[in-house]
Amino acid sequence: MDNFIFNARTKIYFGKGQVDNLPDILNEFGKNVLLVYGGSSIKKNGIYNQITERLSEFSVCELSGVEPNPKIESVRAGAELAKKKNVDVVLAVGGGSVIDCAKSIAAGYYYDGDPWDFVKDSSLIGDVLPVVAVLTIAATGSEMNKNSVISNMASNEKLCTSSLKFIPRAAILDPTYTYTVPAYHTAAGVADIMSHVFENYFKSDMTAGVQDGFSEAILKTCIKYAKKAIDTPDDYEARANLMWASTMALNGLCGAGKSGSFSCHPMEHELSAFYDITHGVGLAILTPRWFRYILSENTVDLFYRYAVNVWGICDEDKFAAADKAIDATYAFFEGLGIPMNLSKLGIDGNKFEIMAKKACANGLSNAYVPLSENDVVNIFNMCV
Ligand code: NZQ
Ligand code: ZN
Repeated sequence: MDNFIFNARTKIYFGKGQVDNLPDILNEFGKNVLLVYGGSSIKKNGIYNQITERLSEFSVCELSGVEPNPKIESVRAGAELAKKKNVDVVLAVGGGSVIDCAKSIAAGYYYDGDPWDFVKDSSLIGDVLPVVAVLTIAATGSEMNKNSVISNMASNEKLCTSSLKFIPRAAILDPTYTYTVPAYHTAAGVADIMSHVFENYFKSDMTAGVQDGFSEAILKTCIKYAKKAIDTPDDYEARANLMWASTMALNGLCGAGKSGSFSCHPMEHELSAFYDITHGVGLAILTPRWFRYILSENTVDLFYRYAVNVWGICDEDKFAAADKAIDATYAFFEGLGIPMNLSKLGIDGNKFEIMAKKACANGLSNAYVPLSENDVVNIFNMCV
């Protein structure tokens, strides 16, 4: 296990009715609040009213309409508004897109130039306003992590910028807020959670017992509850388990002491950057193909452990077990209703070379199994 720093900075308020704590949470930071949210979902399901009713003693300005795969234009608009209104704290109510956008807005408040500068180069991030998150979909882990993923469609770039100062100071995790997440996004969220775990579980270091045990528990929890949440959207137990899985999958714990870059995420970010697809759907399509591509004498032990500990596959032959686990992963995503081919999303091979080049520029040579541009094109082709 490598050395690591684990920084658990976010105070989590988990469970029904935790929104009642919102005024106390915000009071720590000041009275001027920038409320950031996405499309119409929080107005339709009543969360918006629950929030604003509790903000009566605050001065609130709003940035609405943050897109899935948040765009740099929203960050620019939010940062400008925050400066104009001299806000003290940014309150993000939504999913990863809204929280990521809020984080970059919080940095943009203190930054004199164009926020796209520090998306491209995180060393330019200076001070950052406090961010508080109210999570409405289980997926990214942004509610407790240091990442902000922002897209620039003009240059077909989707980049992750990071700062410890981005980590939300507090997050309200009320599973009932996810009852209205549609089946498609519930499934995509689960694929994202599982991918965050895979990205760290599939690394050459197999000595991190706590991290890998935690990872297996998160994967089994997703497998157990995903379909339940889709079939019965107001199943509290299912929604609560998925929500906590989301937060734990990418808050630094599962990856602590396990160095090396991610594999599927850099590839998926290119799919989103060029085609604006749903992040978790891209990951669900890529993951079983990537598994298949990297399975070899060198990696089979890790796949065998995954097969036995996560899927309960007992087969004496390690390759046979690995194959069954990869098939099970594919069938699981398909069973959630995820379209499992890029062609179903209208994506053909036209841009695979340029996408592969850009994905490799984001560190794939340092992945569990290093991937060249040619490898990435091959994997994309397996997904068509
Ligand atoms: O915009 P609204 O109307 O709110 O609708 C959203 C959106 O259409 C909807 N939704 C959210 N909560 C809902 C709801 N609909 C009904 N009821 C609710 N309670 O769901 C749709 C997707 O929302 P979004 O925030 O885009 O989903 P997600 O949380 O999956 O975030 C995806 C973004 O996060 C980035 C992704 O690349 C993508 O840009 N990621 C962020 C990471 C991070 N910060 O660490 C890591 C991830 O790997 C990922 O890259
Ligand atoms: Zn992800």
